[in-house]
Formats: sequence, structure tokens, C-alpha cells
Amino acid sequence: MPRGRAGTTPRSGVLTLALTAVVALVVTGCGSGSGGGTAADCDTSRGTLVVGLVAPLTGELASVGLGMKNSADLAIKEANDRCAVPGYHLAIQSQDDRADPRTGAAAARTLAGDPSLIGVLGPFNSSVALEMQRVLADASIVEISPGTTAVQLTRGSNPVTAPLRQYQSFFRTVATDAVQGPAAAAYMAEQADRRRVAVVSDGKTYGEGIASEFGKQLATVGGTVVTRLQLPPEASPAAAVGAIARSRPDAVFYGGEYPGAGPLSRALGAAGVTAPVMGGDGIVNPGYVAAGGREGDLGTS
Ligand SMILES: *[C@@H]1O[C@H](CO)[C@@H](O)[C@H](O)[C@H]1NC(C)=O
Repeated sequence: MPRGRAGTTPRSGVLTLALTAVVALVVTGCGSGSGGGTAADCDTSRGTLVVGLVAPLTGELASVGLGMKNSADLAIKEANDRCAVPGYHLAIQSQDDRADPRTGAAAARTLAGDPSLIGVLGPFNSSVALEMQRVLADASIVEISPGTTAVQLTRGSNPVTAPLRQYQSFFRTVATDAVQGPAAAAYMAEQADRRRVAVVSDGKTYGEGIASEFGKQLATVGGTVVTRLQLPPEASPAAAVGAIARSRPDAVFYGGEYPGAGPLSRALGAAGVTAPVMGGDGIVNPGYVAAGGREGDLGTS
């Protein structure tokens, strides 16, 4: 059984192989599966290698977290079935972060204490990743997230003026807000010809990040942020609607999730504001229309 941290053999060599197999499946979002059995004729004489998974397995985001877990379980099973890492059996250790940063950090510490750990998949939330990064980097454990979009995770807290990759062990398989926000701004100003945009965010890590990336890019493509507001998702949109209407926007960009965006869109329509609402992947959800989203609203994903 390997005892060293990354950089010593066999850990690092085996790591690449095993995680490549797992990530390929997590990324394509394969569905259900049961945990890893070993094909009878594989050589597993060198022991077991553990792949950790940290995801929201309970709570509001459980459907996302269980999707991640089922995908990883299936990938590990398939890797074991085809003897993907000669000499070793692969196993998954799943931990529930409940979409809570401190719970995620504690889960990372628990996993890092296992000498057979070769890498960690997850988490889903950027806020959780921010707390997990240091723990796993200190332990020289590679971490691959399929869901986090906050720019600072790989570019530091001043991503434009002083980009800094603080944690070499952190990787992700989704585009960051620095891609999605600007793409939305370019579309709005250049293709939809809607240049006066009211920008609203829910004030959370994801919403604030994508809203500010949108605003920065809008200015560079000839648009104007006519008002910039924070609207917590649980608050009534009424107050924001007045301010938005007075700013006479061509469009409203919402940084946040569909449960906040839908009611805002409905309230805007009720107040006679015809400007469409646009948002990122957080509003691209069938629940958006049910929550009040209007015909003509736009989303990027
Ligand atoms: C986790 O991510 C989801 C989906 O993006 C979001 O609704 C939720 O607010 C996030 N939670 C935290 C603690 O960041």
C-alpha cells in the first residue's frame, strides 16, 4: 500500500491513471451505478487506492451531489472491472459537505488522513472549494471539481491585476465566471443590441462573481451598467423592481439562481418593465419558468 504523499512513487503515477478514468465519467454526468467490485482476474496484490469524493449528499443540493457520487461510483466500478490500475483495487470514500464550507474542509481533513488516498473529486460549491483547497494542497492531494466557477479558485483574489495560482493541486472541469459573464455581456451588447443593463446579484459567491464579470465586460463592449443592486434570494423583489424601472434598462442581468431570478422576472413584468432578464447557468433550469421567468429571458450555460 502506498504511504508517501504525491511526488513519491507509486502514488503520483497511479493517481493520474485512476483520476483520469473517474473524471471522464463525472464530467459526462453518467447516472446510477453501484460501488466498485473487482473483476475476479485483476491483480490487486498491492492493495487498495482510495479516491475521495466531497459533495452535497444531503440538503437542497442533494440531487446534484448524489449525481456526482453515482457517477464516481460507476466510474470506479468500471475501472476495477477492466483492471485499470495494475496491482490495485480502487475504492471510493464519499463525504457529505452539505454545501457548507466548514463541513467540506472537515471532510477534506478526514480524507487526507487516509494514507491510501490518491485524490479527491469535488466539491460542487465554490464557497466549499475555497475552504478545502488549502487542506488538500497542504497534504499534496490533487483535487478535481466538476462544478465550481469562482475565478479566484485558480487565479487568486486579484485575478485581473495579479493573477496567482495559489494551489497547484486544484483543478476543475467547468469554465469559470470569467468566461460565462463576459460571453453574456458580449451577446447582450453586440448581438441583442441591448446596451443599458441593470445588474442584480443575490450577493452570494457565485451570483456576485458572475454579475461583476458581466458588468466589467459590458463596459468594454460599449454597454453601460445603469444600476447595480443586491437582492437576497429570499427577499421580495418589490424594492429592486422600482429602482430597476427608474434606470430604464434594455435588459436585466441577474447573478444567482433560478429561485431568485424567476420571481424577479415576474415582478418586473407586472410592473410594466419589458426588458428581458438574463442569467448564467444558475437560472438555466426548468424550475425557472415555474418560478416566474418570462418568455424571451436568456441564460448561458
Ligand atoms: C451552493 O451552490 C448552489 C448552486 O449554485 C447555490 O444555490 C448555493 O447557494 C451554494 N451554497 C453556498 C453555501 O455557497
